[in-house]
Amino acid sequence: MQKRIEVQKIDHQLLWHPFTQRSSAFPPPVIVKARGIKLWDTEGHWYYDTISSWWTSVHGHGHPALVRAVSRQIKRLDHVNFSGFTHPLATELSRRLYLRLPQELSRFFYSDDGSTAVEAAIKLAFQYHANTGNPQKTQFAHFENSYHGDTLGAVGVSGLDDFHAPFEKLKFSSYRLKAPVRPVPTTSCTLNPVGNPCPEDVWRDSETRLRAEADRTAAVIVEPLIQCVAGMLPYPAEYLKRLEKLCKELNILVIYDEVATGFGRTGTFFALDQAGTVPDFLCLAKGLSGGVLPLALTVTTPQISSAFEGFPVRTFFHGHSYTANPIACAAALASLDIFERKKVMEKAAPVRKLFHEILASWCGHAGLGDVRFLGHIGAVDLISPLTRTSWDARLKAGQRVYRKSLEKGLVLRPLGDTIYWFLPLSVREKDLGIIMQRSLDVITGVMEELSKEGPLDGNNTPSGSPRDV
Ligand SMILES: Cc1ncc(COP(=O)(O)O)c(C=O)c1O
Repeated sequence: MQKRIEVQKIDHQLLWHPFTQRSSAFPPPVIVKARGIKLWDTEGHWYYDTISSWWTSVHGHGHPALVRAVSRQIKRLDHVNFSGFTHPLATELSRRLYLRLPQELSRFFYSDDGSTAVEAAIKLAFQYHANTGNPQKTQFAHFENSYHGDTLGAVGVSGLDDFHAPFEKLKFSSYRLKAPVRPVPTTSCTLNPVGNPCPEDVWRDSETRLRAEADRTAAVIVEPLIQCVAGMLPYPAEYLKRLEKLCKELNILVIYDEVATGFGRTGTFFALDQAGTVPDFLCLAKGLSGGVLPLALTVTTPQISSAFEGFPVRTFFHGHSYTANPIACAAALASLDIFERKKVMEKAAPVRKLFHEILASWCGHAGLGDVRFLGHIGAVDLISPLTRTSWDARLKAGQRVYRKSLEKGLVLRPLGDTIYWFLPLSVREKDLGIIMQRSLDVITGVMEELSKEGPLDGNNTPSGSPRDV
């Protein structure tokens, strides 16, 4: 096996990592092994993977049942084109998911990543209206600071200028709705706002805009209950209930992007279970395969799919080479087995409670602004302990916490100056306690260091420096 220095050298010479400038990247740790919630590097150091490897790993790394399922399947059927053929893994996976979803969601369109699941939903919504005599419905509504992926369709419904401003001229027509998340800056801790009333001013904004644009609007896309890349911002379920009702009235389709929130991450199997609402499209990826292989789904209703039948040709001309890859489907089925046999949701509940208690106890801590959580997701904003205001963006407070966390055997990945945890459902109480104590030590240490350094010269630039996902 190549040595760390050698790998890092070739990496620096040849590779271009996502969301990263080659010149400014510090040599990344070289990971060679992963088990449970830990990642090992070439030197034998390990790190707590507190963000589930980009929100994918659900049961921890190297779960024996997933390993068995993948190795068995690759020997039987590695891949087959899914246009013209089917296979029992895709049918069984769809059947099992159908049993877990509201019964209206009964048409399963496979692809391979979160962005492609969103892309398919957008195109389906657009073509559905064209196929049903409403070709003028070409606009999409989405939240401010929304993130739905990096392919162009997904960028078209993104509200994150940090990422997508360079592509402004390539974006199709869409408009932004205020998100029902906490106001910025917030004076108190958000904690878990899902049961709170819907903020009336935000709802008025959404309702007015959607009514005004109804004739031109094909669909509205939301991340249900929590905006993730925006900063792990949970919001009241009541917003989704009102949105469902209004969109039915206005013939606007609703797309739920559960790419990040699906598979237990928010405390229920899907976020929609908690909201008690049914969208026209549900996008799933990341945790779908248990977090081991690319696999995605756009689930929709018979009402939508029937609009693509018959003549003149109304087919949905869209597909990807690895659609419904059998090995990925085998992993997804094994993941569902783990959920069922091991009673994952029930067993995760006490750890989730402890996670929330720890985070709630941090509210008001020097160096921490808003504290919030939902399910196995939690986040804090970094602030100056002296002034209790945001840091100057040039200080890169979040990045400094990230680097320090790696030294301490922890992955605290920042979203700007927000530090978050996106834990696997398999995390145990003992590990959680260590993770949270270490996290607080790292954050407090960096906040103290920054306070000692004092302010930078020149104008204070607002915090919210470009995010690293
Ligand atoms: C809500 C949401 N949708 C879509 C995506 C895109 O998924 P992928 O990176 O698999 O394309 C992400 C990725 O973080 C996401 O958080």
